[in-house]
Amino acid sequence: MAIEKQRKLIAQIIHAKPSEIFFTSGGTESTNTAIHSACRDLKCTHLITSPIEHHATLHSITHYSQMYDCKISYVKLKENGHIDLAHLERLLAESKEQCLVSLMHANNEIGNVTDIISVGKICKTHNAFFHTDAVQSIGHFQLNIEEIGAHFLSASAHKFHGPKGIGFLYIKGGTNIKPLLVGGSQERNMRAGTENVAGIIGMGKAIDMAYQDLEQSRAHILSLKHKLKSLLEETIPNCCFHGDLADTNLYTVLNVGFPQSEKTQMLSIHLDIAGICVSSGSACSSGAQGISHVIQHAYPHSKALPIRFSFSHFNTLDEVEFVAKKIVELV
Ligand SMILES: Cc1ncc(COP(=O)(O)O)c(C=O)c1O
Repeated sequence: MAIEKQRKLIAQIIHAKPSEIFFTSGGTESTNTAIHSACRDLKCTHLITSPIEHHATLHSITHYSQMYDCKISYVKLKENGHIDLAHLERLLAESKEQCLVSLMHANNEIGNVTDIISVGKICKTHNAFFHTDAVQSIGHFQLNIEEIGAHFLSASAHKFHGPKGIGFLYIKGGTNIKPLLVGGSQERNMRAGTENVAGIIGMGKAIDMAYQDLEQSRAHILSLKHKLKSLLEETIPNCCFHGDLADTNLYTVLNVGFPQSEKTQMLSIHLDIAGICVSSGSACSSGAQGISHVIQHAYPHSKALPIRFSFSHFNTLDEVEFVAKKIVELV
């Protein structure tokens, strides 16, 4: 009963039916399920994505395309790092194959938000299946799956302060796919294995709280992001910012490009020592060497060193001032 209550709540929040919500272990599993099923069951032989997706998508696309002998196309990016929707339209118009389009809603590194309602319309016109990774946006933006028109939507609880290791996959009713995991009959035969009851309840509570406080949290987090940006602009004039900084984009991240120097090379380590957690790319790639694939593709000519700052409603203005002061000391 507790599980079904959360399913109903999540469905209501994204304007879906409870029968379209499947609990998974998180964003990675949801995305793997969507892409695998599209290749295996929906006979998609042309996978269209962008070069700045999370690795959960990019690696799934290459993995399953090899397994099912599919063609891959990458949608071009515009100068501001946004997806070129005209190019997406051309790719679909020229394709003779059944297509799956997988494009994320909000980018986890630079914060750009894609107009997924338009993507959904383009996909519908060209009879393509559409998966969207909404891991970064759910709990931070209102999402209406009826308007988006996606066949699949991936979500993960820890991005809206729920527990780690739980998420869900929305699958549009009538999308005829087989289960990813076979075994018991849980999740209406779609995802075998004993349900993570505590995780599901935690996710339900977290998503409910996120939407109750949405406007208040958004205003607070945006003020923190603006503050850090202006403090850095004042004190480190040759820093730059990656991503579209319009307030309509993901307000929880600020990606700063620092001028390359011996000091900035060590910046994230020294910030870590000072108790400030930042990342040079996606947190899942922390520890990986080199500039992130997102920055390389969105800003191929940039020589700046990217550092991603993330904010939540738990952060305070004092913390932001402390971070800015520390950066100035270190740089
Ligand atoms: C945009 C995006 N997609 C997918 C994932 C993977 O989700 P999970 O860690 O729940 O598997 C993440 C991060 O964790 C993410 O930021």
